[in-house]
Amino acid sequence: MIPTMRPMPFVEARNLPSHVGIIMDGNGRWAQLRGDARVEGHREGSRAVRRIVRTARRLGLKALTLYAFSEQNWERPEEEVETLMILLRDFLLSERDELLDNGIRLNAIGNLGRLPGIVRAVLDPLRKESASRAEMTLTLALSYGGREEIAAAARELATDVANGKLRPEDVTAEALHGRMPSLRVGDPDLVIRTGGERRISNFLLYGLAYAELHFTDALWPDFSEVDLYEAIASYQRRERRFGLVGKGVVPNAAAAVGVITGRKLRLVG
Ligand code: FPP
Repeated sequence: MIPTMRPMPFVEARNLPSHVGIIMDGNGRWAQLRGDARVEGHREGSRAVRRIVRTARRLGLKALTLYAFSEQNWERPEEEVETLMILLRDFLLSERDELLDNGIRLNAIGNLGRLPGIVRAVLDPLRKESASRAEMTLTLALSYGGREEIAAAARELATDVANGKLRPEDVTAEALHGRMPSLRVGDPDLVIRTGGERRISNFLLYGLAYAELHFTDALWPDFSEVDLYEAIASYQRRERRFGLVGKGVVPNAAAAVGVITGRKLRLVG
């Protein structure tokens, strides 16, 4: 059989998405395909997290939001939840210096109060320490749910109305947006889901309104730099209309100013 060559994606430096969200799916299947326990997939998945954070920073993305643990994931077997928490702690410990040295602000969204002490003990200080870093914001969605985030924002506005700080007519789409921690870095421009499923699974629901979606069959532990370039190249080929025509259309730049050769990315211009 003749092996099929994978065409190299072409990424333009001028037209990068600012905020990329990723639903990292497929760890369990990756392990099962090798006859390993699911937790081995998570272990390899956390290596992929390191790889993709570095690549995102190198590319110049301003914000990367990773769906690391959903509010619903607590229902998984105890051993799996425990392993995920340990991997998370280990990631924060081992990446601390690299994040700080590379201007990356670490942020976390979700019901953080549910996280165990071993995670909070490293997460909270690193969030504070990195707060002034401004090159890229890495947000980990932990014990996160999009519906839960919307409900929390609505609750805050309802409280302000009840206390007389806001009028009911002040409860607008913008006011809700302003209360969403996931959107402080702006709406996601591009959301990628690995692992072959075509669904959103309660991720960044409010911010997804005009996001471009990219689905790939690659299982998360296999998701490579080239897969990320491919997702971005696909984003750059699209025309974002935001519900408008004519003037409102944001065409993707015609001039190519970046090129990827082999596994190396060269950004020019
Ligand atoms: C989904 O795969 C993935 C998760 C529930 C967790 C994602 C966690 C990591 C990538 C590792 C730790 C995170 C960090 C930030 C270091 P799945 O288990 O649902 O896969 P499946 O659909 O094949 O079962």
